[in-house]
Amino acid sequence: MGQFMNLASEPNKDKSNSPPHLPDSNKLVHTAKACARFIEKTILFLIFKPELKGAYIYFMRPKRRGKSEDAFNGQVGRQSIFNEITKAFDIEQIIETGTYMGLTTSYMNHKSGLPITTTEANPQYFGYSQQRFKKNPNIVGHLSDSRSFLKHVLAENIDPKNTLLFYLDAHWHDDLPLREEIEIIFHMHPNSIILIDDFKVPHDTGYTYDDYGNGNTLHIEYLKPIMPIGFRMFFPSLPSDQETGAKRGCVVLVKEQHLIDDMQKQDALREYHDDSPAIA
Ligand SMILES: C[S@@+](CC[C@H](N)C(=O)[O-])C[C@H]1O[C@@H](n2cnc3c(N)ncnc32)[C@H](O)[C@@H]1O
Repeated sequence: MGQFMNLASEPNKDKSNSPPHLPDSNKLVHTAKACARFIEKTILFLIFKPELKGAYIYFMRPKRRGKSEDAFNGQVGRQSIFNEITKAFDIEQIIETGTYMGLTTSYMNHKSGLPITTTEANPQYFGYSQQRFKKNPNIVGHLSDSRSFLKHVLAENIDPKNTLLFYLDAHWHDDLPLREEIEIIFHMHPNSIILIDDFKVPHDTGYTYDDYGNGNTLHIEYLKPIMPIGFRMFFPSLPSDQETGAKRGCVVLVKEQHLIDDMQKQDALREYHDDSPAIA
């Protein structure tokens, strides 16, 4: 999560108002840029609705939209896990929590061709991502807390035989919805594959993960209270020193036996057992 920033922030830019010692033409450019920044700040201040602010930023800062390779924290290994799963399993649709700027959402749709439903709790990020998805009827965005969103989506008439893939990435704040999200999914649709971002990989300490304190660390201990659900855990088999990008850990959870059997055949994943050997 450390790599994320406020949409309106302008990283790596000199924000000082006093022009340094520059030739006259450069001073002009500097002044023009300072004026443009001031105008933009004023516009953003005047746009009252956060959704509209997000939409405005999407249009005004095309460079911030990112590239396809930046999806999944820029991790080639994670992209392989996703691609392997979507090829190996007959997935009906993808459901994501934590849309943010919608880059990973678009990647998942583009690579798999599957329809995606995604939710975001922050109205500004929602407004931003809605612009990205505007011309794509296969991606539906919601502005909602992930728990109520999941209950709502899963209450729809989904055939229990259909396999759903969930990407759970709505963790950013002290209020960590992850355990509840997993409970809702496996309770309402056991035939699910759950991929969770930012999770500690027990056999490889080179992968990073989220720790919010007060027991809210994304690691196996955090899942212990809901272990009676009976899911199995799979972690990346790629050593972290061969992963790219932010090297965030992840875990895949499945509960139904046919999904467990097929997940055990995936090269990009290895099943967790208490005695799994660690990578030095
Ligand atoms: C780590 S970012 C998601 C990154 C995104 N999936 C990607 O790969 O680019 C987490 C996002 O989850 C959102 N979020 C946090 N708590 C949430 C909740 N309870 N329900 C829905 N969204 C939430 C945050 O506002 C933030 O945009």
